Amino acid sequence: MTSIRKQKNLINPCWIFVRYSICSLIFIHILSISGCSDELEPEIVAVDGKAIREEFGDRIDIHNLPNYANQPVPDYIKGDNGKDNPITDEGATLGRVLFYDKKLSIDNTLACASCHQQALAFSDSAVVSRGVQGGVTERHSMRLINARFNYEKKFFWDERAETLEDQTTMPMKDHAELGFSGQQGRPDFQDLLNKLQAVDYYNELFTLVYGDSLITEDRLQRALAQFVRSIQSFDSKYDEGYKQDFANFTESEKRGMELFTVLPQVPGGYRNGGGLGCFHCHRPPAFDIKPDAGNNGVIGVANKPGEIDITNTKAPTLRDIANPNGQLNGPLMHDGSVKTFSELMLAVGQQPFNPNRDPIMGEGSFNLHISEQEAEDLVAFLKTLSGKNVYTDERWSNPFRE
Ligand code: HEC
Ligand code: HEC
Repeated sequence: MTSIRKQKNLINPCWIFVRYSICSLIFIHILSISGCSDELEPEIVAVDGKAIREEFGDRIDIHNLPNYANQPVPDYIKGDNGKDNPITDEGATLGRVLFYDKKLSIDNTLACASCHQQALAFSDSAVVSRGVQGGVTERHSMRLINARFNYEKKFFWDERAETLEDQTTMPMKDHAELGFSGQQGRPDFQDLLNKLQAVDYYNELFTLVYGDSLITEDRLQRALAQFVRSIQSFDSKYDEGYKQDFANFTESEKRGMELFTVLPQVPGGYRNGGGLGCFHCHRPPAFDIKPDAGNNGVIGVANKPGEIDITNTKAPTLRDIANPNGQLNGPLMHDGSVKTFSELMLAVGQQPFNPNRDPIMGEGSFNLHISEQEAEDLVAFLKTLSGKNVYTDERWSNPFRE
């Protein structure tokens, strides 16, 4: 048996009853239930962990959970969109199980991790990802690196999820993804909750995290968001360099950084000096997207030549677009249209007239005339932004037997 502290801000029905009786006694009926529960003291809950041991063996030891809650974050990283849902080791462990659990799909074939693979910085090598029963996603899967440190609180390429918490249950309800849509005879989200409620290891894990075994959408969201926010990557060459004025950089990497961080001079759409201005939207040192960045002019629709999509104004951090060997972790951009570094230079370097672009890029056609040397330097710099540990760390790996 292990004793753990239940997360404080959640409501336990027994406590509400006790508190409510006390409240009634002193005639403070106007206090709402949540008013009472705000004062809830952390409580000791017992979980014996038998079902967890049976399913996960020594891959999850509830007496000795890995550190998700107190990972070192460099002091120059300031953003944190998870302050309302602080990471705990228990919460992130539950999130990890959910992230890898194929029970989250209607036919037990797919999990979050099917489209967000650790070896690919939690993205997918396919342009669009395969969902349940022949479904495919409309856009390319996004890397889930340093999601916590984006100043932008909204998620998805088009920012349609208000928070990461909101985002996490959307793939479950998506007809093409995990399939609990309630459409065309498919089970709905309540059916998924019922399905998970009947699983013994979830009874134990939810009790470990929340003090009782009840599964709700809010509880799923909080645990999954904690796991996703725990995925961090700060062991790159750039991070080593940051502390020592980039003395570890090659001349080419230094020139690439300069190109990234200086605005171009493009009178009449023709660049005649300056850098390439990437920093304006992808902000060092987190390389997260500027919250009010506009469209970058990449307006294709995956696998639908001729159609356009101008709604995309978010990118994941530009850290870890490539793996430690310098290979891209998958195609880039919402439509997966950029498959090589050379294609990246073309996509950002020259564009036709486009009234929907971020005003900083102007609406006229432009050509940044990125020379071969400049391309080489910029790519060398982008590769310094990749870490190593995040690709293999067990904390973020599959806890199920394959
Ligand atoms: C079938 C493939 C698929 C599955 C399954 C899937 N995702 Fe995704 N994920 C995607 C795609 C594609 C996008 C981009 C979609 C868009 O923006 O329209 C995405 C985007 C995201 C984002 C947004 C990242 C950002 O920086 O804005 C998060 C977070 C995420 N997924 C987490 C999850 C979680 C958690 C699960 C499991 C509950 C999951 N995904 C299941 C394909 C998938
Ligand atoms: C006006 C803001 C802006 C500027 C300037 C800008 N970007 Fe972006 N960038 C974006 C947005 C928004 C996206 C997401 C676009 C999409 O997929 O529709 C993006 C996407 C990307 C991606 C793909 C990310 C991924 O996960 O697939 C890369 C790589 C990238 N930009 C590199 C650059 C480079 C290099 C420069 C400088 C030459 C640059 N960007 C300049 C806004 C900008």
